[in-house]
Amino acid sequence: MWYPKVFNTNQALYKAIADAIERDIHQGILKQGDKMPPQRQLADRIGVNLTTITRAYREALKRDLIETFKGDGTYVKTRDNDSLTNKGTSQKPSSFEFGFANPGTSSTEPLADILRTLSNDRSKLDIFNYVENIGLMRHRDIAAKWLSQYGFRNLNANQVIITNGAMNAIVCFLVGILKAGDTIATDTLTFAGLIGSAKLHHINLVPIEMDNEGMMPDVLDAACKAGGIKAVYLMPNMHNPTSKVMSDQRKSDIAAVIVKHDILLIEDDIFSFTNLDSTSAISAQIPHNSFFICSLSKVLYPGLRIAFAKVPDQYYHQYVDALIHTVWMASPLNAEIITQIIESGIIHKLSADNRALISKRQHFARQLFDENVLSSNQESMYIWLTLPDRWTSDDFEHVALLNGIRIISANKFFVGKGTCPNAVRISLTSEPDYHLFCKGLTKLNDLLFQTPQLLNAIM
Ligand SMILES: Cc1ncc(COP(=O)(O)O)c(C=O)c1O
Repeated sequence: MWYPKVFNTNQALYKAIADAIERDIHQGILKQGDKMPPQRQLADRIGVNLTTITRAYREALKRDLIETFKGDGTYVKTRDNDSLTNKGTSQKPSSFEFGFANPGTSSTEPLADILRTLSNDRSKLDIFNYVENIGLMRHRDIAAKWLSQYGFRNLNANQVIITNGAMNAIVCFLVGILKAGDTIATDTLTFAGLIGSAKLHHINLVPIEMDNEGMMPDVLDAACKAGGIKAVYLMPNMHNPTSKVMSDQRKSDIAAVIVKHDILLIEDDIFSFTNLDSTSAISAQIPHNSFFICSLSKVLYPGLRIAFAKVPDQYYHQYVDALIHTVWMASPLNAEIITQIIESGIIHKLSADNRALISKRQHFARQLFDENVLSSNQESMYIWLTLPDRWTSDDFEHVALLNGIRIISANKFFVGKGTCPNAVRISLTSEPDYHLFCKGLTKLNDLLFQTPQLLNAIM
């Protein structure tokens, strides 16, 4: 713990401590971003009363030496990200990553052991070769066991395909099962990757209205009656970007509409490890109509690009054909790593670590943002901020980026024809350093209260 080793006692004690903070910063003993000791601990350590330390910190704040974050603590001020409003600088690279959603904690420790063992294990040389396109049997075996937790009954390795992340699994559906000109129903706000890929492959998207559980079954029913819909794309266990979760009743109602109109379901599950109360799949209720995709990218390592797809028997060959003619196969080395992490149970520890991190960050965000602005699910990696009228979501995204903060405007997720919600998505997990996370989010909240006109004038 830092404490002032020397300070000048010929002046008020609080000033002397503030001077010591200033001196130690200049001498590099205290570095930018260092956490200052809690006030009571510092008072006890140097034998002064708490009020003296409170006044000393106030003085240091006044001198712009330190900064405090509600619910987090006091830090030596960092100066590399000073805001545009202060500096008037031009475009800077993003310093706070709230756009992408990398896993919050993916310790690389387990990888070291796995890779060391693999490099000496001659019985597993197949993972460096071309293998069955759908993935090695032992990998699919573990994948089938993993998918069973979603409620699939009697699932076996021959019904499962290893893909190059969820994105590849989605593309295999678009190019292997659908054809250009076909139509998929989606939520009015949906995964931006699906929107981009559908456009690339000339697949139409039709928006279906949502309520607080996501897609509304009666609206889907009406759209199917109107005709032309071949499939519906859903994220029932945690919707991206809004974090809405479907109840079991809603899942059954949606399943009934799908069966009634004999359309297909692409069910995308990438976040349910965050929310252990909601892990059942609609696909388990209607296996003949559904493609279930489970990616490990948010809980383990997105760079390994591994997901599992459960495909109805009657579409299996078409789907595998698309896999072969897009990526040939997912990397067996990466599938082996994921398999071992699941088999060894390490995945449960990593999931728990991620849930703990999400919970802490959700708590911070909920304390910081006004409750009329923030909506989310306590278990989600994201929050959704509804902006005050003076901001448009695109302007806010742009100004945040100029201030070094990457966030994503609702427009990127919007399929609807009417007015897009005036909102932005914030990812809570990509910034590894908790202090920087708090600092970035606080800065974003400050921006919310500023007027865009004034910022434009400064720019
Ligand atoms: C809903 C959803 N589906 C799929 C993906 C892509 O996953 P992967 O990295 O496994 O391709 C993402 C990535 O953020 C996502 O949010």
